[in-house]
Amino acid sequence: MAEDLQILKGNKIEQYQNLLPQIKGLLTDEPDLIANLANVSAALKEQFGWFWVGFYIVKNDELVLGPFQGPVACTRIKKGRGVCGTSWAKATTLIVPDVEQFPGHIACSSLSKSEIVVPLIKDGMVWGVLDIDSEKLDQFDESDQLYLEQILALIVL
Ligand code: SME
Repeated sequence: MAEDLQILKGNKIEQYQNLLPQIKGLLTDEPDLIANLANVSAALKEQFGWFWVGFYIVKNDELVLGPFQGPVACTRIKKGRGVCGTSWAKATTLIVPDVEQFPGHIACSSLSKSEIVVPLIKDGMVWGVLDIDSEKLDQFDESDQLYLEQILALIVL
């Protein structure tokens, strides 16, 4: 797999459909988790230009900041806290159209307006989350959830 991404300017679904096989190519034959999380966050950031794209990984009953693209961020999040900790506790994807309306939202940056958090699950256990923040309100919907969950299914722990 070449290390440069083919960026497509189409609608969101077309962009995901173009990106998905490329991410699959990036992950194929690479067993290192950190390398793969780093490349997935970079690929998503490069294609969509969102404000912040990154992973938190469960370590000693906390989420700890992992590979990401964007400004510096909070390093540790407790279970049930913020959007990430809630997604972890509920083991479900959360779409937040307006972060100010989400009780307990953790503002790593005041520029972040909407957010989607998708859990990484193996054998029924959440081992991390993908967190994406946008500077626009109402950036994410069920189509993001659908494709992001497909992308995360490619990541092997
Ligand atoms: N807003 C997140 C915290 C992580 S940063 O956005 C990168 C939350 O409420 O969990």
